[in-house]
Amino acid sequence: MKILAIESSCDETAAAIVEDGRNVISSVVASQVEEHKLYGGVVPEIASRRHAESIVPVVRKSLDDAGLTLSDIDAIAVTHAPGLIGALLVGVNFAKGLSLSTGLPLVPTHHLRSHIASNYISNPELKPPFLCLVVSGGHSHIVMVEDYTKMKIIGRTRDDAAGEAFDKAARTMGMPYPGGIELDKAAENGDPLAFKLPRPVVNDAPYDFSFSGLKTAVINLIHNSSQKGIKLNKADVCASFRYAVVDCLTKNFLRAAQDFGAEKLVIAGGVSANSLLRSTLSEECKKRGYKFFMPQKSLCGDNAAMVGSQGYYEFISGNIADRDLNAYATLSIE
Ligand code: KG4
Ligand code: ZN
Repeated sequence: MKILAIESSCDETAAAIVEDGRNVISSVVASQVEEHKLYGGVVPEIASRRHAESIVPVVRKSLDDAGLTLSDIDAIAVTHAPGLIGALLVGVNFAKGLSLSTGLPLVPTHHLRSHIASNYISNPELKPPFLCLVVSGGHSHIVMVEDYTKMKIIGRTRDDAAGEAFDKAARTMGMPYPGGIELDKAAENGDPLAFKLPRPVVNDAPYDFSFSGLKTAVINLIHNSSQKGIKLNKADVCASFRYAVVDCLTKNFLRAAQDFGAEKLVIAGGVSANSLLRSTLSEECKKRGYKFFMPQKSLCGDNAAMVGSQGYYEFISGNIADRDLNAYATLSIE
């Protein structure tokens, strides 16, 4: 079964063709990041306008790259939530129009479920149940993936998402948006123990995260030093901050794994590209006897291949949209 998948929840317009949930035939991503960089973050109205311009050529290219036409496609999957509402509406309305004109079934797909599904592409042997750490620019969740379309949130952030904290810390150090990846690179040459940063915990909620205090601590460290004319070693600040975030993420995730008796641990979302998160969890899982899975780096960020994968499992579980499908800025993964 071939699914044409469409993603437009944030600042990437993407389309892909995926067979049987696992085999990516084509995948096209048009990033708007260079334009948003000028403003230090995503400008929602610009994002919507660029999606409107890019969606037709991106979808056409995904078909051309695959050497297929719409008559070869069996269903259309589209990200309908969560994300920037104006951005989501471009993809949803385009997919609805295409579904109406071709008669193909339309499959609404949750963006975070799709991030999890990127792992089905990178790890063909992976099947639920497993415990997944979903860390993106907008979310930080620990999710029990009981089945492909059955999930339970075990822990969540109480304030900032991990990606958001990375981006804000990086911005304070003068790095361009999105700073997470730059900060990760700079941290490679620094000492993670150079600066002592807090590890916030949430009382009576051992699997929940809180990154806002940690973010403020590093911002204060940078501002206070600059006011006193002290020059900080940027690589050391990046390494200490990255170590603190990864420490919080891995501690809670491993604790949940132990308490819930998980056997397979998985990471997903933009922050799953973080080198320290990947290496720390690989080592810890090996030590503790868990099987560990992560998406290939090219599938960590937003793309439509993951939408085609999750869309397949949504379709076979009977999740087909009516003609009044809408987009939602927020929607639980459950
Ligand atoms: O999943 P994603 O592409 O978009 C959302 O759904 O939010 O995640 C984007 C986030 C950004 O905050 C970005 O800085 C972060 O993922 N990110 C990273 C790395 N690569 C991307 N954070 C830390 N280390 C990285 N290597
Ligand atoms: Zn995403």
